[in-house]
Amino acid sequence: MEFDLTIRNGRITTSKETFFADIGVKDGKIAAIAPQLPAAAKDIDATGQWVMPGGIDSHAHIEQFSGMGVMCADDFYSGTVSAAFGGTTTIIPFAAQHKGMRIPDVLADYAQRARSKAVIDYGFHLILSEATPENLQSDLVQAIADGVTSLKVYMTYDALKLDDFQLLDVMEVAGREGAMLMIHAENHDVIRWIARKLLASGKTAPKFHAVAHDYLAEGEASNRAIALSRLLDVPILLVHVSATEAIDVIRAARQLGSKVHAESCPQYLFLTAEDLDAEGLEGAKFCCSPPPRDPRAQEAVWQGFQDGTLGVYSSDHAPYRFDTTGKLPKGEATTFKEMANGVPGIELRLPLMFSEGVLKGRITPEKFVQLTATNHAQMYGLEHCKGDIAVGLDADIAIWDPQLQRTITWSDLHDNVGYTPYEGKQITGWPVTVISRGAVVVQDQQLHAQPGQGQYIPRRCPQPLLNNPLQPQPSSAARWLGLKGKAWSGQA
Ligand code: URP
Ligand code: ZN
Ligand code: ZN
Repeated sequence: MEFDLTIRNGRITTSKETFFADIGVKDGKIAAIAPQLPAAAKDIDATGQWVMPGGIDSHAHIEQFSGMGVMCADDFYSGTVSAAFGGTTTIIPFAAQHKGMRIPDVLADYAQRARSKAVIDYGFHLILSEATPENLQSDLVQAIADGVTSLKVYMTYDALKLDDFQLLDVMEVAGREGAMLMIHAENHDVIRWIARKLLASGKTAPKFHAVAHDYLAEGEASNRAIALSRLLDVPILLVHVSATEAIDVIRAARQLGSKVHAESCPQYLFLTAEDLDAEGLEGAKFCCSPPPRDPRAQEAVWQGFQDGTLGVYSSDHAPYRFDTTGKLPKGEATTFKEMANGVPGIELRLPLMFSEGVLKGRITPEKFVQLTATNHAQMYGLEHCKGDIAVGLDADIAIWDPQLQRTITWSDLHDNVGYTPYEGKQITGWPVTVISRGAVVVQDQQLHAQPGQGQYIPRRCPQPLLNNPLQPQPSSAARWLGLKGKAWSGQA
C-alpha cells in the first residue's frame, strides 16, 4: 500500500504497550503499524521522539456563556488552536442551554459557530438547565439520537442547579437512551450559606471562594449524586473532582460495582487554595469551582488516577480574561461571589501531566494515554474512531520531544485569556508535531491548519467498562419501576 504519510523510527505508546515501530497513514486513518515501512512522500523521522495518540479533551468551555452570563475568552478558533499546540486533537466542549432556550436551537447555534473556526475535530456535550418534560422526553432524546450522547447537569449555580427530583428525572432518560450523565457535584446551599456569612463580614477577597466551596460541600454532593445513580442503576461521571472526600466515596461506590466514573483536571494536581491568596485580586486567576485545595487533596487526585478511581483527565478549560469582560465584572470592587469561575488549561493539560506524571514516575506512559485519550473515547462514544494508536483509527497523533524543557509563560501559549495560572513553572517534554486525521496541524511551533478544517464528530452511545471486581448490583427501583433501556441491559 502506498501511504500518504509515514511516521518512522519513533517510540510508540498505545493504551496498552510501548514499542518501536513505524506508522503508515492513508486517507486520514492509521493503515499500518510495522517494524519498518517504506517512506511515503511525506515522511516524519521521529527518532528520539515519543509517538502517542493525540489527546481528547472532554471538558472545555469554548465560545460559551457561563451560568453567570459571562462569555468565554476563547472562540472555536483560538480554543482549538491552543488545544492543538498542546497535543490535543479532539475536544468535546459544551453547548449550553440556559433557561428558556430550546435544545435544538442551542445545538444548531454552537454547531454553526464551530463549523467555520475549529482546526481540530470536536463533538458537543449538552448542558441541560431545565429538566422540563418537553426538554427531557422529546428534545434531549433527539439530541442523543443525533450524536450528542452526553450531557452535563449542575447541583449548584443559581441559574443551572437541578434539585434531586429533577436529577432523577434526567438520570432516567439518560439511562434509557444510553447517554453519559456528567454531574457538577457541590452542595449549593452549603456554599450559599457560607458565602453569605463571609460577605456580610466584609470577607470578599478571592481566597474566600475556596472557603465557601468547602471540600465537604463537594463530598456531600458527590455522595448524593452517587446514591441517586445507584438508586436508578444509571451511569454517571462526576466532573472536576478535587476533594479527598469525593474521591473516597467514588472509590467505595466503584468497589460495590456501581456505574460511577470520574474526572479530574490539572488545577487539582498543580494548584492549591493558597494560590487564591495572592496580592489584590490576582487570586481570581486561580478561582474555579470546585477550588484547588491542598497538598493532601493533590496526593489523593494522583492516587485516584493511579488506581483507576479517576478515569479521565480533562482541562475544564474555562477561559475568562482578567478584566471586566471576565473575572472582574465590577473591577476592583468585584467580590469572590461575582468572579467568573474557571481557569484556562487546554494547551498545558498534556504537557503538565507528561512532565509531572510520566517523567517523574507517577504514572506509566500507557496510563498517560488512557487518561488523556483512550478513556475519553470510551466514556463518550468515540472508541470506534479515536483515542488510541491502532490500525483503522483516525490518524490523530502527537509526537513528543521528551527532553524539551520549557518555562511556562502565557505569551508562548495560543489562547486568548491573557494569563496562565501556571506562569513560571518549569516542565520537560512537549508535543512538537501534532497530526489530525493524517494532516499535520502543528510542526516547528507553527500552525499548519486552516479554520474549519476540524470536523464535527457525532458520537455513539458510550459503553465504558468498570473494571471492577463486582458486577453491578440489580437495582430494586429499576426493577419495580419497570425501567427499560440501555442502562439496564448491561451497559456500564
Ligand atoms: O469553575 C469552573 N469549573 N468553571 C467552569 C464551569 C464548570 O462548572 O465546569
Ligand atoms: Zn462544572
Ligand atoms: Zn467546566
